[in-house]
Amino acid sequence: MTKTLIRGRLLSFKRAPQSLTDADSYAYEHDGGLLIEDGIIAAIGDYAEIKAQAAEDIHQIDHRPHLILPGLIDTHLHFPQMQVIASYAGSLLEWLNTYTFHEECRFVESDHAARIATRFYDEMIRHGTTTAAAYCSVHKASADAYFAEAMKRGMCMVGGKVMMDRNAPQGLLDTPQMSYDETRAVIGEWHGKGRNHVAITPRFAITSTPEQMQAAQALAQEFPDLHIQTHLSENLDEIRYTCELYPQAKDYTDIYAGYGLLGEKTLLGHAIHLSDREADVLSETGSVAVHCPTSNLFIGSGLFPLNAIRRRNKPVRVAVATDIGGGSSYSMLRTLDEAYKIQQVLGQRLNPLDSFHLMTRGNAEALSLVDRIGTLDVGTDADLVVLNAAATPAMALRLETVTTLPEELFLLQTMGDDRAVAETYVAGKAMKQGLEPNLGA
Ligand code: GUN
Ligand code: ZN
Repeated sequence: MTKTLIRGRLLSFKRAPQSLTDADSYAYEHDGGLLIEDGIIAAIGDYAEIKAQAAEDIHQIDHRPHLILPGLIDTHLHFPQMQVIASYAGSLLEWLNTYTFHEECRFVESDHAARIATRFYDEMIRHGTTTAAAYCSVHKASADAYFAEAMKRGMCMVGGKVMMDRNAPQGLLDTPQMSYDETRAVIGEWHGKGRNHVAITPRFAITSTPEQMQAAQALAQEFPDLHIQTHLSENLDEIRYTCELYPQAKDYTDIYAGYGLLGEKTLLGHAIHLSDREADVLSETGSVAVHCPTSNLFIGSGLFPLNAIRRRNKPVRVAVATDIGGGSSYSMLRTLDEAYKIQQVLGQRLNPLDSFHLMTRGNAEALSLVDRIGTLDVGTDADLVVLNAAATPAMALRLETVTTLPEELFLLQTMGDDRAVAETYVAGKAMKQGLEPNLGA
C-alpha cells in the first residue's frame, strides 16, 4: 500500500458560502495534514495529530505555505478546440462556421486525436484541473483518444462523442443511426473503465435533426445514469434559428424537454438568454445551467445572470466552466475572475469563498460526483490542487498586505493562472512538476 502524508494549509467546502464571513461553510487547517493511501484520502486534520497516527518513515511532502484544495473541476469544454482558441469572430455562428467546424474535422485521424489528447491533459494538469466534462468531436476516434489518455493518467473525466447530423461540413456529420451505434460503442468500451464517465452528447438542436434527437432520447432511456451534455440559448441569432427548426416547441428549452433530455445529470452549456418559463423548467427538472464567462464575453454572447438564476424562487442549479475553445483560458481561476466581473456589471457580488466553492465542491455537486471528488473528505479520491498566492512578483507584493483567507482567495482569483498552481495531484500522485514544457513542439 502506498501512503503519503501531505502538509500544508488545507481548505475545502462543506456547503455553498452565504457571505464573506460564513466561516461555517468551509473547513480550514492552518497547519494541516492529509494522509493518502492508494489514491484515497485516509485522514485529514491537524498535521501533528495526523503525523502521530502515521508510520514513522511515511513519505512526506511539505507544501507550506501554499494552500491545498480539492482539484479544480471544469464542467464544459471542447477537447478538439485546443487549436481554435483565439479565433477572431463577430458571433457564435460565425465562429462555429469559420473556424470551429473545420478544425474539428481533423479529429477523424486517430493520430491527430491522440496527439491533442496528450496536450489536453497536460493543460488540465498545468492549470490544476483534475476533472472535466468535455465534448469530443463527432468521430469515435476522438472519444477513444480522450478516454484512453484519461485512463493513462488516472483522471476522473466526463466526455462524449458529439452527435451531429446537419448544418455542418460533411466531414463532421454522422446519421441518427451512426450516432446511436457509436455512442453505444463508446459507452461499452469506456464507461466505468478507470474513472471514465461517458456523456450522451447531442451538440445542440441546430446540428441535430428530430430523428437524431430521438436517438439521443433512446440512449437516455437505455442509460438513465449517464450525463447528458448540450448547448442552450447562448446567442440570440442561434435561438431564433433553433426555434425555426423546431416550430412545434414552445421555446429552445422545450425542444430538449420534448425529447426527455432534461434532468439532474443534464449539463446545459451557456443558458444565458432564458425566459422565466424556461428557468422554471430547468429548476423543476434539476438540470444544470453551465456558466462559461470567458467564452460568453469573448464571443460576445451575453451576460449570464449567475446570482439571479440560482437565487430565484425556483432556483436553477449552476456550474462554471472554461468552454475552451470559445473560452479564452484553461484556468478556472481566470474563469471565476471573469464571472466576478460579469456579476459586478450586473450589479451583483460574487464573493471569493463562493467562487472557490463553485470550482470545487459546487461543480462536483453539479456533476453528481461529490461522493468522489470536490472535497477533502475521508474516503474520496485524492485529487488536489496546491495554490501559491505569491506566484509572481506582483502577486507576492500584493500578498504582503493580505490578512484574511477570503482576501488571499480573491488575490488568487484576480491575478492567478497556471503559474499559481504549484502542484496538481491525481489520485494521490503529483502530476505537474514532471510535465514536459512542450514549448514549440
Ligand atoms: N454551440 C454549439 N457548438 C458549440 C461550441 O463548440 N462552442 C460554443 N461556445 N457553443 C456551441
Ligand atoms: Zn461548448
